[in-house]
Amino acid sequence: MDLKNARILLTGASGGLGQELARQLNDAGAALLLAGRDQGRLAALSTSLGTGVASVCADLGRPAGVVALAGAAREFGINVLINNAGVGAFGLFENQDWPTIEGVLATNLEAPVRLTHALLPWLKAQPQAAIVNIGSTFGSLPFPGFVAYSAAKAGLRGFSQALRRELADSLVSVVHIAPRAIDTPLNSDPVKALNRALKNHSDSAEDVARQIVRALRRGDGESHFGFPERLFAWINGFAPALIDRGLAGKLAIIKQHSSSSSS
Ligand SMILES: NC(=O)c1ccc[n+]([C@@H]2O[C@H](COP(=O)([O-])OP(=O)(O)OC[C@H]3O[C@@H](n4cnc5c(N)ncnc54)[C@H](OP(=O)(O)O)[C@@H]3O)[C@@H](O)[C@H]2O)c1
Repeated sequence: MDLKNARILLTGASGGLGQELARQLNDAGAALLLAGRDQGRLAALSTSLGTGVASVCADLGRPAGVVALAGAAREFGINVLINNAGVGAFGLFENQDWPTIEGVLATNLEAPVRLTHALLPWLKAQPQAAIVNIGSTFGSLPFPGFVAYSAAKAGLRGFSQALRRELADSLVSVVHIAPRAIDTPLNSDPVKALNRALKNHSDSAEDVARQIVRALRRGDGESHFGFPERLFAWINGFAPALIDRGLAGKLAIIKQHSSSSSS
């Protein structure tokens, strides 16, 4: 993908990874339509990036928000859609209330699927186009304490792979990115404490954004970041019982940290 001529809708632009992605894509010469719910943060980001940047507020947890965003994207003339908006929810599944679970599924899975569906005819009409879905290691290495989030991200991975295969004879590429933990506000204090206790590595948003921009430039279909997470995700694909056993040994620590989590 030639980023100098790219016109990109970036959802979740006001978040930790989104802001860094916006900066790097802007530096690469792309025109940006930044989406989020916080008008103030979006406006401040747009101003800091300069010309060629527009912003739009929409709640992706609601179908009407998706419709509004798709309209704004067509008006802006996008040829790249980056589905980056997401919410986390750490806690034992049985203790989470339904609105929390529904919100995780709606924002992390239903919204990108809906937005892609609404924009696909438009993207197929462009000389070159890409859909980038920001997943997670937990989409290939589903994790206790993150049941709804893992389900949503596994769904997004399946969606990305099936759509890529369906669009193989088109000019639309589908890029699926699976980062491990990133230092952003998505992770609450209990999640950070859990990551420290489990010795899970956390990457900077800057590094992850750099890898995403590289994957988009090259049109890499699948990118899974971080070792040993990539190895464990691979093992989970053919010998999930091994991972079941490994994670059973960590369950007590996960339960202990989840009891101090409300998100
Ligand atoms: N941080 C990690 O450890 C990690 C690891 C792997 C993958 N990821 C993925 O990376 C992506 C970016 O996450 P992040 O770490 O940058 O999180 P973040 O800092 O919490 O930012 C999340 C972004 O999503 C937006 N968003 C949330 N709910 C929304 C809704 N209903 N409608 C519209 N926008 C909404 C937020 O907008 P508002 O400002 O309006 O709330 C914000 O811009 C997510 O898909 C996440 O799952 C994160």
